[in-house]
Amino acid sequence: LLAVAAAAIFVAPALVPDLAQAQTPVIIKFSHVVANDTPKGKGALKFKELAEKYTDGKVKIEVYPNSSLYKDKEEIEALQLGSVQMLAPSTAKFAPLGIKEFEALDLPWLFKDDATYSNAMKGTIGKWLFQKLEAKGITGLAYWDNGFHMVSSNRALMKPEDFKGLKFRISGSKIADQYFRLMGSIPQIMAFSEVYQALQTGVVDGCENTASNYLTQKFYEVQKDITVSYHAHLQYAVIVNSKFWNGLPPDIRAQVEKAMADATEYTNQIAHQENEDALAEIKKAGKTTLHYLSDADRKAWQEAMRPTYTWAKGRVGQEVLDLVAKELD
Ligand code: LMR
Repeated sequence: LLAVAAAAIFVAPALVPDLAQAQTPVIIKFSHVVANDTPKGKGALKFKELAEKYTDGKVKIEVYPNSSLYKDKEEIEALQLGSVQMLAPSTAKFAPLGIKEFEALDLPWLFKDDATYSNAMKGTIGKWLFQKLEAKGITGLAYWDNGFHMVSSNRALMKPEDFKGLKFRISGSKIADQYFRLMGSIPQIMAFSEVYQALQTGVVDGCENTASNYLTQKFYEVQKDITVSYHAHLQYAVIVNSKFWNGLPPDIRAQVEKAMADATEYTNQIAHQENEDALAEIKKAGKTTLHYLSDADRKAWQEAMRPTYTWAKGRVGQEVLDLVAKELD
């Protein structure tokens, strides 16, 4: 008996590595904060489907939606530590890494429509911003669209004066902080997962977000008035831990890259319609009143928020502002 046991101990270590390689797929944990039924949520699931297919199961993508693994700030730390391999935070959330330049994309009324946004991101600005991440051990893979922000509270927001004294939740960008201040309101950074309760209990009076987030997080149930202002754009950077990414076997990395390229095309293609559908559902639910700005109202908001552009030079620097401006020409 002893001899058998000894033999088993002897052979086991030699078998382990082969078995482990044959049976253990590479796991990519992909954490994000929104619902599955949103452009980003669907994009992550599409990426999972394609990456597992293209690698023939050698890679397994575990998607953790709705802040179920990490909240906003924690997830970036977790990515750097390697506890999670992939994220898709909004570009408004990179200040905790000491990178402010992404916030240029939050400037109010920067992109006049979807086409302007997507054309701009096809230019040099996207790659330039991704280079900023490298020193932090993070690699940028793609930009995912989620359309334009609306803004809400329990009063109709039609004129800049309507914002006076109200507390608004913002997601992280100092540019948003600035334009809410210019409207006379009090912005406050808060994790996405805490917004519903903060609105419900009156910790904040209002917020800004896209229709798909208003719908799936039920913000519209606790906000009497939503203004379909489309005053700023929401986009995500899909990012990975560089050490993990560079350590993937090149053939597998190429397959995963292709999955990301295809999932990106899919996500950016559905984003607009997803948000239109979400807005229609919010309207149908009848729990909130939707408001639309007249041309004169919009002009008044634009005038009030305009000083954000001058202020932004001190925050994000002239270089990125010039790059963005070049893409908008
Ligand atoms: C927010 O925090 O409002 C958004 O960035 C959430 C998201 O990822 O869409």
